[in-house]
Amino acid sequence: KTWTSKERYAPYASYSPAELECLQKRQAGSIWHLNYHIQPQSGLLNDPNGFAYFNQRWYLAYQNFPFGAVHGLKSWHYLSSPDLVHWREEDLFLEPQSPYSTHGVYSGSALPIDDQLFLMYTGNVRTPDGGRISTQVGNWLDQDQHLGTQEIPLIKQPAGYTANFRDPQILFVDGQYYALIGAQTQSQKGAILLYQAAKPTGPWNLIGPLDLGEDLGFMIECPNLAFVDGQVALIFCPQGLDRTQVPYANIYPNMYLLADGIDWQQAKLINPCPLQNFDEGFDCYATQVVNGPHKESYAISWLSLPEIVYPTDQEDWQGCLSLVKQLHLQNGKLIQVPVTIPTSSEKFDPLHDKLRFNEVLTFDLKTLPTGTITLGNSTEQLSFQFQADQKTLTIDRQQAGQAIISDYGDTRTIALDSGAHQLKLWLDASSFELFLDGGQKVVSGRFFPTTNDWRIQTQLNISVKITGQRLQKIF
Ligand code: FRU
Repeated sequence: KTWTSKERYAPYASYSPAELECLQKRQAGSIWHLNYHIQPQSGLLNDPNGFAYFNQRWYLAYQNFPFGAVHGLKSWHYLSSPDLVHWREEDLFLEPQSPYSTHGVYSGSALPIDDQLFLMYTGNVRTPDGGRISTQVGNWLDQDQHLGTQEIPLIKQPAGYTANFRDPQILFVDGQYYALIGAQTQSQKGAILLYQAAKPTGPWNLIGPLDLGEDLGFMIECPNLAFVDGQVALIFCPQGLDRTQVPYANIYPNMYLLADGIDWQQAKLINPCPLQNFDEGFDCYATQVVNGPHKESYAISWLSLPEIVYPTDQEDWQGCLSLVKQLHLQNGKLIQVPVTIPTSSEKFDPLHDKLRFNEVLTFDLKTLPTGTITLGNSTEQLSFQFQADQKTLTIDRQQAGQAIISDYGDTRTIALDSGAHQLKLWLDASSFELFLDGGQKVVSGRFFPTTNDWRIQTQLNISVKITGQRLQKIF
């Protein structure tokens, strides 16, 4: 089905409860329904939003169009968790509202303030002539999960920038509120605008664009700043970034900068390191980070990308989130360590048993080998090809089940030194996340197996120690 723009923006009330229930059943019954990753109850999921520790629980929402696998009228759909592993769907939705978000509640963040949670996000309005109005708005959530009835307008599109102005992250540092907002200059350059306020409800004053040192694409989405082990990590999505600046393979990249600190008044990072890829895989975008109550920092990403056709589109749903990843620093790089999903009591012998796509597998290699580790059978394979002479590992998902329609290739190649390596692979029904050497590199992607007799096969020039556990089903 092709969706007209009228259909994509039709009010939620124009759908019957029976239609929604039918979509939810199809999602729940899909062979690609994930076991321990956040996924949409129905329709399309994109960015993680409003991630915060509030009222003794973790709150996390996702961007959702509930009625199909398209980027239609967006809202936030909240879940909460005591431990970042077990999630409960909340009856808490941020839905389009007049006058600021009639055409979508876009991405944003949340900050606990006194005994309430302050939500700051982008209200999207489309005008009859095809134009766009982006307003940064706020709302309060109380401890009984009641939202204020009206969105509070906070920031309008500033002079010199286009209506591609969205995804505010609100922060509280040294008695001041700051907001980082993704933006595009009138001359089509990506920017991150920094605002300051004494109160979350404003007035918000523009300090200026963050000095990023160089031009970064035509638009920056989803800027997020976290304090990681005493340094500053700025994670963002520079759309259209020149591939000669930092190589990347996906349609749009998710990148980060590390710095010793940030000079808020000068809108400048102190001693920034060069720009780096946050994930070297196929489908990782719009990562949101939050500092927890003990200053620890956690990231979660959208595991899909804009403008790609996924096999679940035929079932009218799309997208999932990554595992939550705790961030640390090592040698000028971010280290990502996923939260641990509890193992199930079921026995699992990774050398002989079939995979059920709810396992964590560990491969210990004494040196960088040559050869292949393959998951699959005679018709479907997800493969990991090592080349010791090239010092590379290539992850190939071309035959890993139903095809993902994309112009961005079926393989990703990463550089590895010739020493020992550990691969930890989290497999779910339609996602994999590979954490190398304790999270020094991460390769995430979707895959869509259609057969259920996958096993592990190795063909390597050295021996490999393989261990694995089956995991509990969370969803
Ligand atoms: C990123 C993004 C954001 C926007 C949201 C809308 O994937 O385009 O910039 O707020 O999705 O769903």
